[in-house]
Amino acid sequence: MLKINVLDKKFKVSITSEDIQDSIRKIALQMNEDLKGKDPLFIVILNGAFIFASDLIKQVNVDCRISFLKMASYHGTASTGKIRDLIGIDEDLKGKNLVIVEDIVDTGFTLEHIIDILEKHSPAEIKIATLLFKPNAYKKKIKLDYVGIEIPNDFIVGYGLDYNGYARNTKDIYVLDK
Ligand code: IMP
Ligand code: MG
Repeated sequence: MLKINVLDKKFKVSITSEDIQDSIRKIALQMNEDLKGKDPLFIVILNGAFIFASDLIKQVNVDCRISFLKMASYHGTASTGKIRDLIGIDEDLKGKNLVIVEDIVDTGFTLEHIIDILEKHSPAEIKIATLLFKPNAYKKKIKLDYVGIEIPNDFIVGYGLDYNGYARNTKDIYVLDK
């Protein structure tokens, strides 16, 4: 579908499923080189990253584990910078090679908050993978190790990303149709 309605808003296709899957293949190839023998623990940030993580992890061929962290910072269509709390990790992270898996990095506040929390557990290393990145909105200096697709500063939904909880269940990514 080229256009969808989500609650009170209209969206149009922005990134097709093919382009999403291409970018995931590239990330996985890179990870398979970088993470060999590192016994990585993937930390998937819920809710948004679950679909990306599912497609990505199937293409990762190094021995690894996967765990989930739940955060939320968005209400409506603009990042508030306020991050609500999270459901934690029960693994021992000390000395582990962690890979944060995010759907999107926007201002970077959420990411910084996650890193602060994870660093308290003394991991050996924290790498960051995000399917989408809004460089013009980014306010932090944290290096992103794996970036799928850079996008402009527009509100998008689909493929895990939501508008007030809806529209996570699409194969393509849609942008607000102004
Ligand atoms: P940040 O803290 O501003 O970097 O925002 C990160 C979080 O906000 C992401 O994990 C998403 O859940 C959400 N987010 C950022 N941009 C969008 C968007 O365009 N659509 C839907 N959710 C978004
Ligand atoms: Mg998210």
